[in-house]
Amino acid sequence: MSKFNRRNFIKSVAAVTAATITTSQASPDTFTQVPKKSPISKNKTVMGLTSPKMSTVRVGFIGVGERGYGHVKHCCHIEGVEIKAICDLHQDVMDKSSQYMIEQGLQVPDQYTGSDLSYKDMLSRQDIDIVIISTPWRWHTPMSVDTMESGKHAFVEVPAATTVEECWQLVDTAERTQKNCMMMENVCYGRDELMVLNMARQGVFGELLHGEAAYIHELRWQMKEIDRKTGSWRTYWHAKTQGNLYPTHGLGPVSQYMNINRGDRFDYLTSTSSQALGRQSYAQREFPADHERNQLKYINGDMNTTVIKTKLGRSIMIQHDTTTPRPYSRHNYIQGTNGAFAGFPNRIAVESPPKNIALQYDNEYQQTLKQWQDSGKQGREPSAPSFHRWDHQLDKWQAEFDHPLWLKMGDAATKNGGHGGMDFLMLWRMMYCLQHGEALDQDVYDAAAWSVIAPLSADSVTDRSNSKDIPDFTRGVWQTAKPLGIIS
Ligand SMILES: NC(=O)c1ccc[n+]([C@@H]2O[C@H](COP(=O)([O-])OP(=O)(O)OC[C@H]3O[C@@H](n4cnc5c(N)ncnc54)[C@H](O)[C@@H]3O)[C@@H](O)[C@H]2O)c1
Repeated sequence: MSKFNRRNFIKSVAAVTAATITTSQASPDTFTQVPKKSPISKNKTVMGLTSPKMSTVRVGFIGVGERGYGHVKHCCHIEGVEIKAICDLHQDVMDKSSQYMIEQGLQVPDQYTGSDLSYKDMLSRQDIDIVIISTPWRWHTPMSVDTMESGKHAFVEVPAATTVEECWQLVDTAERTQKNCMMMENVCYGRDELMVLNMARQGVFGELLHGEAAYIHELRWQMKEIDRKTGSWRTYWHAKTQGNLYPTHGLGPVSQYMNINRGDRFDYLTSTSSQALGRQSYAQREFPADHERNQLKYINGDMNTTVIKTKLGRSIMIQHDTTTPRPYSRHNYIQGTNGAFAGFPNRIAVESPPKNIALQYDNEYQQTLKQWQDSGKQGREPSAPSFHRWDHQLDKWQAEFDHPLWLKMGDAATKNGGHGGMDFLMLWRMMYCLQHGEALDQDVYDAAAWSVIAPLSADSVTDRSNSKDIPDFTRGVWQTAKPLGIIS
Protein backbone atom coordinates (compact mmCIF):
# COMPACT_ATOMS: atom_id res chain seq x y z
CA MET A 1 0.00 0.00 0.00
CA SER A 2 1.51 3.38 -0.93
CA LYS A 3 1.89 5.97 1.80
CA PHE A 4 -0.99 7.95 0.36
CA ASN A 5 -3.25 4.98 0.00
CA ARG A 6 -2.51 3.76 3.47
CA ARG A 7 -3.26 7.19 4.87
CA ASN A 8 -6.55 7.33 2.99
CA PHE A 9 -7.41 3.85 4.11
CA ILE A 10 -6.73 4.56 7.77
CA LYS A 11 -8.66 7.80 7.46
CA SER A 12 -11.67 6.04 6.00
CA VAL A 13 -11.59 3.24 8.52
CA ALA A 14 -11.65 5.84 11.27
CA ALA A 15 -14.29 7.66 9.32
CA VAL A 16 -16.77 4.87 9.42
CA THR A 17 -16.08 3.69 12.94
CA ALA A 18 -19.06 5.58 14.28
CA ALA A 19 -21.23 3.97 11.66
CA THR A 20 -20.09 0.44 12.07
CA ILE A 21 -22.33 -0.89 14.74
CA THR A 22 -23.87 -2.31 11.60
CA THR A 23 -20.92 -4.20 10.16
CA SER A 24 -20.22 -7.83 9.57
CA GLN A 25 -18.63 -8.03 13.01
CA ALA A 26 -21.96 -7.11 14.55
CA SER A 27 -23.52 -9.67 16.84
CA PRO A 28 -27.24 -9.54 17.59
CA ASP A 29 -26.70 -7.65 20.85
CA THR A 30 -24.77 -4.92 19.06
CA PHE A 31 -27.66 -4.09 16.71
CA THR A 32 -29.23 -0.72 17.14
CA GLN A 33 -32.02 -1.07 19.64
CA VAL A 34 -34.84 1.04 18.33
CA PRO A 35 -37.14 1.97 21.21
CA LYS A 36 -40.81 1.23 20.52
CA LYS A 37 -41.63 4.83 21.44
CA SER A 38 -39.83 7.93 20.19
CA PRO A 39 -37.81 9.71 22.87
CA ILE A 40 -39.79 12.63 24.29
CA SER A 41 -38.54 16.08 23.29
CA LYS A 42 -39.09 19.29 25.21
CA ASN A 43 -38.81 21.21 21.99
CA LYS A 44 -41.35 22.22 19.38
CA THR A 45 -41.79 20.15 16.24
CA VAL A 46 -40.26 21.55 13.06
CA MET A 47 -42.97 20.02 10.87
CA GLY A 48 -44.04 22.88 8.58
CA LEU A 49 -41.28 25.15 9.94
CA THR A 50 -41.13 28.57 8.34
CA SER A 51 -38.59 31.31 8.86
CA PRO A 52 -38.76 35.07 8.19
CA LYS A 53 -38.60 35.96 4.49
CA MET A 54 -35.07 36.43 3.19
CA SER A 55 -34.82 39.02 0.42
CA THR A 56 -31.37 37.63 -0.36
CA VAL A 57 -30.34 34.12 0.62
CA ARG A 58 -26.70 34.26 1.69
CA VAL A 59 -25.00 30.92 1.18
CA GLY A 60 -21.91 29.15 2.45
CA PHE A 61 -20.66 25.89 0.94
CA ILE A 62 -18.85 23.02 2.63
CA GLY A 63 -17.44 20.68 0.01
CA VAL A 64 -17.13 21.90 -3.56
CA GLY A 65 -15.94 18.67 -5.17
CA GLU A 66 -17.88 16.97 -7.97
CA ARG A 67 -21.30 17.65 -6.48
CA GLY A 68 -20.71 20.89 -4.59
CA TYR A 69 -19.30 22.58 -7.71
CA GLY A 70 -22.54 21.77 -9.53
CA HIS A 71 -24.54 23.39 -6.73
CA VAL A 72 -22.31 26.49 -6.83
CA LYS A 73 -22.90 26.81 -10.58
CA HIS A 74 -26.68 26.51 -10.23
CA CYS A 75 -26.81 29.01 -7.37
CA CYS A 76 -25.07 31.56 -9.60
CA HIS A 77 -28.16 31.49 -11.85
CA ILE A 78 -30.84 31.91 -9.18
CA GLU A 79 -32.00 35.42 -8.41
CA GLY A 80 -31.67 36.68 -4.86
CA VAL A 81 -28.86 34.28 -3.96
CA GLU A 82 -25.41 35.41 -2.87
CA ILE A 83 -22.53 32.99 -2.32
CA LYS A 84 -20.52 34.42 0.56
CA ALA A 85 -17.99 31.69 1.31
CA ILE A 86 -16.80 28.25 0.32
CA CYS A 87 -14.85 25.66 2.25
CA ASP A 88 -12.99 22.57 1.06
CA LEU A 89 -9.84 20.64 1.88
CA HIS A 90 -8.49 21.31 -1.59
CA GLN A 91 -7.49 24.66 -3.04
CA ASP A 92 -7.94 23.65 -6.68
CA VAL A 93 -11.65 22.83 -6.35
CA MET A 94 -12.32 26.05 -4.46
CA ASP A 95 -10.50 27.99 -7.17
CA LYS A 96 -12.59 26.24 -9.83
CA SER A 97 -15.79 27.43 -8.12
CA SER A 98 -14.41 30.95 -7.62
CA GLN A 99 -13.33 31.08 -11.26
CA TYR A 100 -16.84 30.16 -12.39
CA MET A 101 -18.26 32.97 -10.27
CA ILE A 102 -15.76 35.46 -11.70
CA GLU A 103 -16.86 34.43 -15.21
CA GLN A 104 -20.47 35.19 -14.21
CA GLY A 105 -19.43 38.65 -13.00
CA LEU A 106 -20.14 37.74 -9.37
CA GLN A 107 -18.20 38.64 -6.27
CA VAL A 108 -15.52 36.09 -5.38
CA PRO A 109 -16.45 34.17 -2.21
CA ASP A 110 -14.15 33.94 0.81
CA GLN A 111 -12.34 30.63 1.04
CA TYR A 112 -11.83 28.40 4.08
CA THR A 113 -9.39 25.51 4.05
CA GLY A 114 -6.52 24.01 6.02
CA SER A 115 -8.08 21.28 8.13
CA ASP A 116 -11.08 18.98 8.44
CA LEU A 117 -12.63 21.50 10.81
CA SER A 118 -11.96 24.73 8.90
CA TYR A 119 -15.66 24.79 8.11
CA LYS A 120 -16.26 25.86 11.71
CA ASP A 121 -14.50 29.16 11.00
CA MET A 122 -16.89 29.71 8.13
CA LEU A 123 -19.83 28.89 10.40
CA SER A 124 -18.77 31.59 12.86
CA ARG A 125 -19.63 34.28 10.29
CA GLN A 126 -22.82 36.21 10.86
CA ASP A 127 -23.52 37.01 7.20
CA ILE A 128 -24.53 33.50 6.09
CA ASP A 129 -28.13 32.23 6.21
CA ILE A 130 -27.79 28.71 4.83
CA VAL A 131 -25.03 26.18 4.34
CA ILE A 132 -24.95 23.65 1.50
CA ILE A 133 -23.01 20.54 2.50
CA SER A 134 -21.64 18.23 -0.21
CA THR A 135 -18.94 16.26 1.55
CA PRO A 136 -18.32 12.51 2.07
CA TRP A 137 -21.11 10.74 3.99
CA ARG A 138 -19.39 10.57 7.35
CA TRP A 139 -19.35 14.36 7.54
CA HIS A 140 -23.00 14.98 6.74
CA THR A 141 -24.45 14.81 10.26
CA PRO A 142 -21.63 16.54 12.16
CA MET A 143 -21.56 19.38 9.64
CA SER A 144 -25.37 19.74 9.60
CA VAL A 145 -25.51 19.76 13.40
CA ASP A 146 -22.75 22.38 13.63
CA THR A 147 -24.50 24.46 10.97
CA MET A 148 -27.78 24.50 12.89
CA GLU A 149 -25.98 25.17 16.18
CA SER A 150 -24.36 28.21 14.54
CA GLY A 151 -27.82 29.62 13.78
CA LYS A 152 -27.93 28.71 10.09
CA HIS A 153 -30.14 26.39 8.05
CA ALA A 154 -28.52 23.17 6.88
CA PHE A 155 -28.96 21.74 3.39
CA VAL A 156 -27.15 18.47 3.14
CA GLU A 157 -26.45 15.96 0.40
CA VAL A 158 -27.77 12.39 0.48
CA PRO A 159 -27.80 10.44 2.74
CA ALA A 160 -28.11 12.92 5.62
CA ALA A 161 -26.97 10.40 8.23
CA THR A 162 -25.32 6.99 8.44
CA THR A 163 -26.59 5.65 11.79
CA VAL A 164 -29.86 5.68 13.74
CA GLU A 165 -28.18 7.82 16.39
CA GLU A 166 -27.13 10.39 13.80
CA CYS A 167 -30.71 10.58 12.51
CA TRP A 168 -31.94 11.43 16.00
CA GLN A 169 -29.13 13.96 16.39
CA LEU A 170 -30.36 15.79 13.30
CA VAL A 171 -33.97 15.75 14.49
CA ASP A 172 -33.11 16.82 18.05
CA THR A 173 -30.87 19.64 16.86
CA ALA A 174 -33.39 20.94 14.33
CA GLU A 175 -36.10 20.97 16.99
CA ARG A 176 -33.91 22.61 19.63
CA THR A 177 -32.54 25.30 17.28
CA GLN A 178 -35.74 25.61 15.19
CA LYS A 179 -33.61 25.53 12.04
CA ASN A 180 -34.23 23.68 8.81
CA CYS A 181 -32.24 20.59 8.02
CA MET A 182 -33.19 19.55 4.52
CA MET A 183 -31.59 16.59 2.83
CA MET A 184 -31.34 17.68 -0.79
CA GLU A 185 -33.12 14.76 -2.44
CA ASN A 186 -32.97 16.13 -5.95
CA VAL A 187 -34.88 13.21 -7.50
CA CYS A 188 -38.08 14.54 -5.88
CA TYR A 189 -37.76 17.37 -8.42
CA GLY A 190 -37.44 15.23 -11.53
CA ARG A 191 -40.08 15.92 -14.16
CA ASP A 192 -41.35 12.33 -14.14
CA GLU A 193 -41.42 12.12 -10.36
CA LEU A 194 -43.29 15.41 -10.04
CA MET A 195 -45.80 14.25 -12.65
CA VAL A 196 -46.39 10.97 -10.81
CA LEU A 197 -46.82 12.88 -7.55
CA ASN A 198 -49.46 15.01 -9.23
CA MET A 199 -51.18 11.88 -10.59
CA ALA A 200 -51.11 10.18 -7.20
CA ARG A 201 -52.64 13.27 -5.56
CA GLN A 202 -55.37 13.38 -8.21
CA GLY A 203 -56.25 9.76 -7.52
CA VAL A 204 -55.17 8.30 -10.88
CA PHE A 205 -53.90 5.13 -9.17
CA GLY A 206 -56.74 4.82 -6.64
CA GLU A 207 -55.77 3.96 -3.08
CA LEU A 208 -52.01 3.48 -2.94
CA LEU A 209 -50.81 0.01 -2.01
CA HIS A 210 -47.22 -0.55 -3.01
CA GLY A 211 -44.13 1.26 -4.33
CA GLU A 212 -40.74 0.21 -5.68
CA ALA A 213 -37.59 2.29 -5.57
CA ALA A 214 -33.97 1.66 -6.43
CA TYR A 215 -30.48 2.91 -6.90
CA ILE A 216 -29.18 0.62 -9.61
CA HIS A 217 -26.16 2.38 -11.05
CA GLU A 218 -22.96 0.66 -12.07
CA LEU A 219 -20.25 2.64 -10.27
CA ARG A 220 -17.36 0.19 -10.10
CA TRP A 221 -15.30 2.64 -12.15
CA GLN A 222 -15.23 4.95 -9.11
CA MET A 223 -12.86 2.42 -7.51
CA LYS A 224 -10.22 3.94 -9.79
CA GLU A 225 -10.53 7.26 -7.96
CA ILE A 226 -7.80 6.57 -5.44
CA ASP A 227 -6.72 9.84 -3.85
CA ARG A 228 -9.47 12.28 -4.81
CA LYS A 229 -13.13 12.30 -5.86
CA THR A 230 -16.09 10.16 -4.86
CA GLY A 231 -14.55 6.70 -5.20
CA SER A 232 -11.65 7.66 -2.91
CA TRP A 233 -14.01 7.52 0.09
CA ARG A 234 -17.14 5.73 -1.16
CA THR A 235 -15.29 2.50 -2.04
CA TYR A 236 -14.55 1.83 1.64
CA TRP A 237 -18.23 1.68 2.52
CA HIS A 238 -18.42 -1.48 0.44
CA ALA A 239 -15.76 -2.99 2.70
CA LYS A 240 -17.19 -1.79 5.99
CA THR A 241 -20.94 -2.23 6.04
CA GLN A 242 -23.77 -4.18 4.48
CA GLY A 243 -27.28 -3.35 3.34
CA ASN A 244 -28.58 -0.52 1.20
CA LEU A 245 -25.82 2.11 1.22
CA TYR A 246 -27.75 4.72 -0.75
CA PRO A 247 -31.52 4.39 -0.39
CA THR A 248 -32.86 7.91 -0.79
CA HIS A 249 -32.92 8.63 -4.54
CA GLY A 250 -35.63 6.11 -5.30
CA LEU A 251 -37.28 6.24 -1.91
CA GLY A 252 -37.74 10.02 -1.65
CA PRO A 253 -40.30 10.33 -4.47
CA VAL A 254 -42.16 7.13 -3.51
CA SER A 255 -42.38 8.46 0.06
CA GLN A 256 -43.86 11.68 -1.22
CA TYR A 257 -46.41 9.81 -3.36
CA MET A 258 -47.43 7.93 -0.17
CA ASN A 259 -47.43 10.95 2.19
CA ILE A 260 -44.81 9.35 4.40
CA ASN A 261 -44.49 11.41 7.62
CA ARG A 262 -47.64 13.26 6.59
CA GLY A 263 -50.46 10.77 7.06
CA ASP A 264 -48.49 7.52 6.97
CA ARG A 265 -45.05 6.50 8.17
CA PHE A 266 -42.50 3.70 7.87
CA ASP A 267 -43.15 1.00 10.48
CA TYR A 268 -40.54 -1.72 9.98
CA LEU A 269 -38.26 -3.21 7.35
CA THR A 270 -36.62 -6.45 6.39
CA SER A 271 -33.56 -6.67 4.19
CA THR A 272 -31.61 -9.31 2.25
CA SER A 273 -28.40 -9.09 0.27
CA SER A 274 -26.81 -11.30 -2.34
CA GLN A 275 -23.15 -12.27 -2.13
CA ALA A 276 -20.54 -9.59 -2.68
CA LEU A 277 -18.67 -10.72 -5.79
CA GLY A 278 -18.48 -7.94 -8.35
CA ARG A 279 -16.08 -5.50 -6.73
CA GLN A 280 -13.52 -8.16 -5.86
CA SER A 281 -13.50 -9.48 -9.41
CA TYR A 282 -13.38 -5.94 -10.83
CA ALA A 283 -10.40 -5.17 -8.60
CA GLN A 284 -8.67 -8.37 -9.77
CA ARG A 285 -9.30 -7.43 -13.39
CA GLU A 286 -8.41 -3.75 -13.18
CA PHE A 287 -5.65 -3.44 -10.54
CA PRO A 288 -2.29 -5.14 -9.88
CA ALA A 289 -2.51 -8.00 -7.38
CA ASP A 290 -0.74 -6.01 -4.67
CA HIS A 291 -2.88 -2.90 -5.15
CA GLU A 292 -4.81 -1.69 -2.13
CA ARG A 293 -8.09 -2.18 -4.02
CA ASN A 294 -7.22 -5.90 -4.11
CA GLN A 295 -6.50 -5.99 -0.39
CA LEU A 296 -9.90 -4.70 0.63
CA LYS A 297 -12.53 -7.29 1.49
CA TYR A 298 -15.75 -6.16 -0.12
CA ILE A 299 -18.56 -7.38 2.14
CA ASN A 300 -21.50 -5.34 0.92
CA GLY A 301 -23.69 -7.67 -1.16
CA ASP A 302 -23.85 -6.63 -4.81
CA MET A 303 -27.65 -6.66 -4.75
CA ASN A 304 -29.63 -5.58 -1.72
CA THR A 305 -33.41 -5.78 -1.48
CA THR A 306 -35.21 -4.12 1.41
CA VAL A 307 -38.95 -4.19 2.03
CA ILE A 308 -40.64 -1.57 4.20
CA LYS A 309 -44.09 -1.94 5.72
CA THR A 310 -45.90 1.31 6.52
CA LYS A 311 -48.31 2.03 9.35
CA LEU A 312 -51.24 2.17 6.88
CA GLY A 313 -50.22 -1.27 5.65
CA ARG A 314 -48.53 -0.35 2.36
CA SER A 315 -45.33 -2.00 1.17
CA ILE A 316 -42.25 -0.47 -0.46
CA MET A 317 -39.43 -2.43 -2.07
CA ILE A 318 -36.05 -0.68 -2.34
CA GLN A 319 -33.06 -2.09 -4.17
CA HIS A 320 -29.41 -1.09 -4.20
CA ASP A 321 -26.81 -2.27 -6.68
CA THR A 322 -23.86 -0.14 -7.75
CA THR A 323 -21.78 -3.09 -8.88
CA THR A 324 -23.49 -5.23 -11.53
CA PRO A 325 -22.91 -4.25 -15.18
CA ARG A 326 -26.45 -3.41 -16.31
CA PRO A 327 -28.60 -0.36 -17.14
CA TYR A 328 -29.45 2.36 -14.63
CA SER A 329 -32.76 2.31 -12.77
CA ARG A 330 -34.55 3.91 -9.86
CA HIS A 331 -37.69 1.80 -10.57
CA ASN A 332 -39.98 4.72 -9.69
CA TYR A 333 -42.93 2.34 -9.40
CA ILE A 334 -46.22 3.11 -7.70
CA GLN A 335 -49.26 0.91 -7.56
CA GLY A 336 -52.78 1.51 -6.32
CA THR A 337 -56.21 -0.09 -6.53
CA ASN A 338 -56.74 1.39 -10.05
CA GLY A 339 -53.39 0.46 -11.62
CA ALA A 340 -49.74 1.36 -11.73
CA PHE A 341 -46.98 3.62 -13.09
CA ALA A 342 -43.49 2.27 -13.64
CA GLY A 343 -40.31 4.11 -14.57
CA PHE A 344 -37.19 3.04 -16.48
CA PRO A 345 -38.75 3.08 -19.03
CA ASN A 346 -41.86 5.08 -18.18
CA ARG A 347 -45.12 3.23 -18.63
CA ILE A 348 -48.60 3.23 -17.17
CA ALA A 349 -51.56 0.88 -16.90
CA VAL A 350 -54.84 1.78 -15.20
CA GLU A 351 -58.31 0.29 -15.24
CA SER A 352 -60.29 3.54 -15.27
CA PRO A 353 -58.29 6.35 -16.89
CA PRO A 354 -59.24 9.99 -16.32
CA LYS A 355 -61.96 11.22 -18.74
CA ASN A 356 -59.67 13.04 -21.21
CA ILE A 357 -57.27 10.14 -21.42
CA ALA A 358 -60.12 7.65 -21.80
CA LEU A 359 -61.42 9.70 -24.77
CA GLN A 360 -57.98 9.66 -26.40
CA TYR A 361 -57.63 5.92 -25.84
CA ASP A 362 -61.00 5.45 -27.49
CA ASN A 363 -60.14 7.66 -30.48
CA GLU A 364 -56.83 5.89 -31.00
CA TYR A 365 -58.53 2.53 -30.79
CA GLN A 366 -61.25 3.48 -33.28
CA GLN A 367 -58.52 4.56 -35.74
CA THR A 368 -56.54 1.35 -35.25
CA LEU A 369 -59.70 -0.69 -35.71
CA LYS A 370 -60.64 1.15 -38.89
CA GLN A 371 -57.14 0.69 -40.36
CA TRP A 372 -57.34 -2.99 -39.56
CA GLN A 373 -60.78 -3.32 -41.16
CA ASP A 374 -59.69 -1.30 -44.24
CA SER A 375 -56.62 -3.51 -44.65
CA GLY A 376 -58.88 -6.49 -45.18
CA LYS A 377 -56.91 -8.56 -42.71
CA GLN A 378 -58.64 -11.58 -41.29
CA GLY A 379 -58.54 -13.16 -37.86
CA ARG A 380 -58.62 -11.60 -34.49
CA GLU A 381 -59.26 -7.85 -34.51
CA PRO A 382 -56.95 -5.53 -32.49
CA SER A 383 -57.93 -5.54 -28.85
CA ALA A 384 -59.06 -2.41 -27.04
CA PRO A 385 -56.57 -0.66 -24.74
CA SER A 386 -56.69 -2.05 -21.23
CA PHE A 387 -54.66 -2.44 -18.07
CA HIS A 388 -53.39 -5.75 -19.41
CA ARG A 389 -50.88 -3.85 -21.52
CA TRP A 390 -48.53 -1.03 -20.53
CA ASP A 391 -49.08 2.29 -22.29
CA HIS A 392 -45.61 3.55 -23.21
CA GLN A 393 -46.90 6.71 -24.92
CA LEU A 394 -46.71 9.12 -22.00
CA ASP A 395 -47.25 12.35 -23.98
CA LYS A 396 -50.97 12.52 -23.34
CA TRP A 397 -50.41 11.84 -19.64
CA GLN A 398 -47.75 14.51 -19.49
CA ALA A 399 -50.09 17.01 -21.18
CA GLU A 400 -52.65 16.31 -18.48
CA PHE A 401 -50.46 15.84 -15.40
CA ASP A 402 -47.16 17.71 -15.84
CA HIS A 403 -46.55 19.23 -12.43
CA PRO A 404 -47.28 22.99 -12.14
CA LEU A 405 -43.77 23.54 -10.76
CA TRP A 406 -42.31 21.97 -13.88
CA LEU A 407 -44.65 23.97 -16.12
CA LYS A 408 -43.44 27.14 -14.41
CA MET A 409 -39.72 26.42 -14.14
CA GLY A 410 -39.10 23.51 -16.52
CA ASP A 411 -37.46 25.65 -19.23
CA ALA A 412 -35.01 27.18 -16.76
CA ALA A 413 -34.42 23.74 -15.23
CA THR A 414 -33.69 22.18 -18.62
CA LYS A 415 -31.44 25.07 -19.61
CA ASN A 416 -29.43 24.98 -16.38
CA GLY A 417 -29.46 21.19 -16.21
CA GLY A 418 -28.18 18.88 -13.51
CA HIS A 419 -29.61 15.37 -13.94
CA GLY A 420 -32.07 16.64 -16.54
CA GLY A 421 -32.90 19.81 -14.59
CA MET A 422 -33.91 18.29 -11.26
CA ASP A 423 -30.83 19.70 -9.50
CA PHE A 424 -31.49 23.26 -10.63
CA LEU A 425 -35.20 23.01 -9.86
CA MET A 426 -34.49 21.73 -6.34
CA LEU A 427 -32.13 24.62 -5.59
CA TRP A 428 -34.51 27.13 -7.13
CA ARG A 429 -37.38 25.81 -5.04
CA MET A 430 -35.30 25.84 -1.83
CA MET A 431 -34.41 29.48 -2.43
CA TYR A 432 -37.99 30.35 -3.36
CA CYS A 433 -39.32 28.93 -0.08
CA LEU A 434 -36.69 30.81 1.94
CA GLN A 435 -37.30 34.05 0.06
CA HIS A 436 -41.08 33.77 0.55
CA GLY A 437 -41.06 32.52 4.14
CA GLU A 438 -42.67 29.21 3.12
CA ALA A 439 -42.05 25.76 4.55
CA LEU A 440 -39.60 23.62 2.58
CA ASP A 441 -40.89 20.56 0.71
CA GLN A 442 -38.51 18.23 2.58
CA ASP A 443 -37.75 18.49 6.27
CA VAL A 444 -35.52 16.88 8.87
CA TYR A 445 -38.06 14.09 9.46
CA ASP A 446 -37.84 13.11 5.79
CA ALA A 447 -34.03 13.31 5.98
CA ALA A 448 -34.02 10.96 8.98
CA ALA A 449 -36.67 8.51 7.75
CA TRP A 450 -35.18 8.15 4.28
CA SER A 451 -31.57 7.94 5.51
CA VAL A 452 -32.17 5.49 8.35
CA ILE A 453 -32.93 2.75 5.84
CA ALA A 454 -29.17 2.36 5.30
CA PRO A 455 -28.16 1.39 8.86
CA LEU A 456 -31.37 -0.52 9.58
CA SER A 457 -31.10 -2.54 6.36
CA ALA A 458 -27.55 -3.42 7.42
CA ASP A 459 -28.85 -4.55 10.81
CA SER A 460 -31.45 -6.73 9.12
CA VAL A 461 -29.01 -8.22 6.59
CA THR A 462 -26.58 -9.24 9.33
CA ASP A 463 -29.44 -10.63 11.44
CA ARG A 464 -30.78 -13.18 8.92
CA SER A 465 -33.18 -10.59 7.46
CA ASN A 466 -35.13 -10.26 10.68
CA SER A 467 -37.36 -7.22 10.73
CA LYS A 468 -36.19 -3.97 12.29
CA ASP A 469 -38.47 -1.25 13.64
CA ILE A 470 -38.12 2.13 11.99
CA PRO A 471 -38.25 5.00 14.50
CA ASP A 472 -41.01 7.56 14.34
CA PHE A 473 -38.82 10.61 13.99
CA THR A 474 -41.89 12.88 13.95
CA ARG A 475 -42.84 11.71 17.47
CA GLY A 476 -46.44 11.15 16.41
CA VAL A 477 -46.88 14.34 14.39
CA TRP A 478 -47.18 12.28 11.17
CA GLN A 479 -50.76 11.48 12.16
CA THR A 480 -51.91 15.10 11.87
CA ALA A 481 -49.35 16.62 9.47
CA LYS A 482 -50.78 17.83 6.17
CA PRO A 483 -49.64 16.05 2.97
CA LEU A 484 -47.26 17.92 0.69
CA GLY A 485 -49.41 20.08 -1.55
CA ILE A 486 -49.14 20.38 -5.30
CA ILE A 487 -47.26 23.65 -5.28
CA SER A 488 -47.06 25.88 -8.31
N1 LIG B 1 -27.88 14.02 -5.16
C1 LIG B 1 -27.12 13.56 -6.13
O1 LIG B 1 -27.55 13.33 -7.25
C2 LIG B 1 -25.66 13.34 -5.84
C3 LIG B 1 -24.76 13.10 -6.88
C4 LIG B 1 -23.42 12.94 -6.56
C5 LIG B 1 -23.00 13.00 -5.25
N2 LIG B 1 -23.91 13.22 -4.27
C6 LIG B 1 -23.50 13.33 -2.85
O2 LIG B 1 -22.68 14.48 -2.72
C7 LIG B 1 -21.70 14.27 -1.73
C8 LIG B 1 -20.33 14.63 -2.29
O3 LIG B 1 -20.03 13.74 -3.34
P1 LIG B 1 -18.97 14.13 -4.45
O4 LIG B 1 -19.20 13.19 -5.57
O5 LIG B 1 -18.99 15.58 -4.71
O6 LIG B 1 -17.60 13.75 -3.71
P2 LIG B 1 -16.20 14.45 -3.90
O7 LIG B 1 -15.22 13.58 -3.19
O8 LIG B 1 -15.96 14.78 -5.34
O9 LIG B 1 -16.35 15.83 -3.14
C9 LIG B 1 -16.35 15.94 -1.75
C10 LIG B 1 -15.60 17.20 -1.39
O10 LIG B 1 -15.68 17.38 0.01
C11 LIG B 1 -14.44 17.86 0.45
N3 LIG B 1 -14.27 17.57 1.88
C12 LIG B 1 -14.07 16.38 2.48
N4 LIG B 1 -13.97 16.55 3.81
C13 LIG B 1 -14.10 17.87 4.05
C14 LIG B 1 -14.05 18.67 5.22
N5 LIG B 1 -13.86 18.14 6.42
N6 LIG B 1 -14.20 20.01 5.09
C15 LIG B 1 -14.39 20.58 3.87
N7 LIG B 1 -14.43 19.86 2.73
C16 LIG B 1 -14.29 18.53 2.82
C17 LIG B 1 -13.42 17.12 -0.42
O11 LIG B 1 -12.18 17.76 -0.44
C18 LIG B 1 -14.12 17.12 -1.76
O12 LIG B 1 -13.75 18.21 -2.56
C19 LIG B 1 -21.84 12.82 -1.31
O13 LIG B 1 -22.55 12.78 -0.13
C20 LIG B 1 -22.64 12.17 -2.40
O14 LIG B 1 -23.43 11.11 -1.92
C21 LIG B 1 -25.23 13.39 -4.55
